[in-house]
Parts: sequence; C-alpha cells; structure tokens
Amino acid sequence: MIIDDALLQRGERRVLELKKLYASQGYRSYRMSKFEEYDLYANNKEFLVSDRVLTFTDPNGKLMALKPDVTLSIIKNSKDLPEEIQRVFYNENVYRVAKGSHSFGEILQTGLECFGAVGEPEQLEVLLLAAKSLQTMSPDSVLQLSDLSLTEQWIGALGVPMTARKEILHAVGEKNLHEISTICARHRVPARAEQSMKELLGCHGTIAETLPKLRELFGKAPAEEEQAFLRMLSLLQASEIADRIRVDFSVVDDINYYNGIIFKGYIEGIPDPVLSGGQYDRLMQRLDRRSKAIGFAVYTDLLDRLEEPGTAARSEEDRYLNVALPKGRLGERVYGMFAKAGYDCPSILEENRKLIFENPEKKVRYFWVKPSDVAIYVERGAADVGVAGKDILLESEPAVYEMLDLKTGICRMCVAGPKGMTEDPGKTLRVATKFSNITRRYFQSVGREIELIELNGSIEIAPILGLSDVIVDIVETGRTLRENDLEVKETILPISARLIANRSSYEFKSELIETLRRELSKIVEETDD
Ligand code: PRP
Repeated sequence: MIIDDALLQRGERRVLELKKLYASQGYRSYRMSKFEEYDLYANNKEFLVSDRVLTFTDPNGKLMALKPDVTLSIIKNSKDLPEEIQRVFYNENVYRVAKGSHSFGEILQTGLECFGAVGEPEQLEVLLLAAKSLQTMSPDSVLQLSDLSLTEQWIGALGVPMTARKEILHAVGEKNLHEISTICARHRVPARAEQSMKELLGCHGTIAETLPKLRELFGKAPAEEEQAFLRMLSLLQASEIADRIRVDFSVVDDINYYNGIIFKGYIEGIPDPVLSGGQYDRLMQRLDRRSKAIGFAVYTDLLDRLEEPGTAARSEEDRYLNVALPKGRLGERVYGMFAKAGYDCPSILEENRKLIFENPEKKVRYFWVKPSDVAIYVERGAADVGVAGKDILLESEPAVYEMLDLKTGICRMCVAGPKGMTEDPGKTLRVATKFSNITRRYFQSVGREIELIELNGSIEIAPILGLSDVIVDIVETGRTLRENDLEVKETILPISARLIANRSSYEFKSELIETLRRELSKIVEETDD
C-alpha cells in the first residue's frame, strides 16, 4: 500500500517512520484492547509511572482500568516461550496523570518489546533500534546508557544496610554526590569505597571517553556484570550509533523490576526523556514468566514542542547557560557566589524591576523567580540550572539532578508547638504546614497518625489560634517561634540551598554545567573554611 505522505501530520509521519524501522528488523505489529482488569496494575504499581489509574466497573461487576501502560498488557497476553525470541512493536495510547498536572491525559507511546531467550545479540539489537529511533526524530539526540545490575553491585560493595542502598540508588539517580557522602558517613563506609562509587558516577560521556576509565576502575579481574557491560560498550563502539551513546550511571529505575541494561533518550530542546527502556527480567519473574525481556517506549507527542530541530538559531542560543535564581536575600547571596565563580552579570545589580539579565560575554543568563518555583523552571527546561532550597526539592520531588550543596540558606525543618505542650498520643495530631509531603512522610516514618492542615504561610498562627496542635515549618534563627511562644519539638531535616540541573540540558551542556559545579564547589569550600 502506498501512503500519500502529504496526508500525514508531522506526528503521524514520525510514528510511521518508527513502525517502518521496527518492521524492517522483524518486529510484528501488536494491537491490544484499551482496557485491562485493574488487578494487573494494582499488583504492579511500582512499575507504573504513576499509581493513579482510571477505573470503571464492567457489566459483570469486575473492576477494569484504562491502560496506563503497554508492557504489562503485552506480557500478560503473550505466550511464555523462554527458548524462543518474540519481537513485537506497538503504537498505543495510555492513560495517566500527566506530570505536573492533576488531570489524566492520553499519551501516545510507540515502542517495542523483545522477549524469550534474550541475550547479548538481542540487547545490542534493541539498543541500536533505540538509538535509530532517536535519530529518525532529531539529529540532536543522545541515548544515555547504564547497567542497573552493575550499579547495584557497586552499591552493595559499600556494605551499607538495605534501606541505605535504596537511598544511595536514589542519590545516584540525582547525580547527588553530597548526599552519597552523607549516607556513607552515616554508615561509616570506608573513604576508598565511597570514592570509587563517586568515580563510577563520574564516568559520564561518550564510549570513547568512558571505556578506558571504566576498564581502569574495574581493575584486572572485573566482576561478571562489569565484563558484560564492557563487552556491550565495545560492541556499541563498533556500531554506526557509537557517537550517540552517553554512558551515564545516573540512569536508574525500580530495581524490583529492572535489571541489566537500562537507557533513556533525550532530544535537544525537550526537557523530558523522549525514550525510556531497559531489561526487565525481574518484572517477568514477578509475572511468573521464565522468559527474559528488554524493550523501550518512545513518547512521540513530546516532539510536538520542538519547532525545527537542529536549526542554527538554536545552536547560538544553546551556548547560553540559563540560570533560575530565587528572588530575595538568598538569591542575592547565591548570585554573589556565581559572580565570584566567574559567572558575573553586572546588569543584575542595576536598580530596576527587570527579571531577566544576561551577560553576552560570559554567555550566562539569569532569571529571578519565586523561590518555590525554581525547581519547576529547571524541571521543565526553561532554565538549565537553578538554586532551590532542599525543603522545596523534598516537597515537590522534581525530576532534576542535584549537583551541589551550596551550604548557604541553612535552616532546618522542624515540628514546633506551644511551649510546654504535652501531646496526647491517643489523639490524632493536628499538624499545620505548607510542606504536606514532607510532613506526611515524617509522621508515617514515626508511626503517628495525623490530620494535615495545609496552609500557605504564617503557619505559626495555627497553634496559637487552636487551628492545629503543632506545625511543621522552617526554622532559621528561631526568632519567629520565640516571639510567638512556640518551641521546636523535633528536628526533621537540615536544609540548605542546592544547585540543580535539568536532565536534558545536562546531556547537551554537560561541559558548561560540570564546569559550573566545579567552580562553585571551590567557592563553597573557601566559604566553609
Ligand atoms: C519562614 C518560616 C518561618 C520563618 C522562620 O517564613 O516559614 O515563619 O521563616 O525564620 P526564623 O526562624 O529566622 O524566624 P517566611 O519568611 O518564608 O514566610 P511565611 O511565613 O510566609 O512562610
């Protein structure tokens, strides 16, 4: 059948290109129903992007769900043939709560799954197809590659308890070196082991850049996982997509489901990953399958945001480092650190009400934004980097890299209440706060039932007027509490300002962002002394 190209919209053309690519490699088209029994998702919530699922009851009284995911349905509806290889591709809508919104969205996913006796050749085949998928969509694209078993094995070697391993994996996913130090210090991890872990994370870049470093790091007798990863890198290096691969150990996903090779695809100018995939043998085991599996999904809708990929105008723009700073005293202090580190922008000090300032010479552009909005600007790619309080990061958990603890804006998150107040453990505690997620998590961890009262500011008034028993809020000097006859009951966490980076910007401006991290950390050390 000949399709008249002029009849296709841009998005449809992209999908057609991908389908042609997958079909040419022996993948067969897979169609499925729009809904499944809800149980499938209820039992595998961690595998889903969000645990919110649209449900309805069918005429037989069975609870059904509109598909939030494709992979689970394909596995469930396919035969388990562990000695063979099954290859399928799909182009389906899934129904999820879209990131940053509180409403369900219909998201188009195009992708493929390969299951059965999956070995090195199939892993390579899927990686090549992932990189080629990106290539069909934009010339400015990269495929971040990691190996979860390897990362897990390195974390295991630190000798920390299971709960700390999860925390470290999370910190690895954020490129959060200072958090790794904090956890290692808490568990008395030997300095050499901690250093090696950080060196592994520091191995970021093209295969040519990272392969020699990894060989050295793994030593003369690499473990099985290390050998497998090195072999895969060598195979990829000899392939036509070698220059698109970026080794990056911060690619992590749920270790209960994924294992081995794991990857994410980025396109310049799009803040979120446009492709995501990996080996998920553990998910297969959880679904009582003996087959191994690897696959990926492409979020073609995200490309609608991209006007003209790879245009000359954008590459000029790309050389700028866009920085979101929190308006106010903290922001001014932080700007001082940036200026000292060589990122000055004199116009920022002029008396006016402008919000955007740039220094064309240094190729840096600053935006003053509300402190609580910095993370949103960075997560959504309006800024490449920004400075946000750890309180905001813990509260909203944005998908950003946490690059550096700036050790300024220091305060602590506390439970506070009226002086001399004694709690009645038999009663539900009424807690007023603007940090509802931090509060919920904290009281859950200490096993205390609470009634949460969400406020937007001047929280200290709540217990005075009897609106709540206690508050959870930031304490800096302690003056606000003192002057309102309140006192700290518990300290939940120390807080300070952090340098954060957009994940996609990091891929395309990694030199700029790593230089900034290095220069700023020198300033932090000087100030610390
Ligand atoms: C913060 C916090 C406390 C106060 C603590 O308020 O919510 O109220 O600072 O500082 P202190 O320990 O030095 O007294 P913010 O100024 O952000 O205003 P808000 O009350 O609107 O949250």
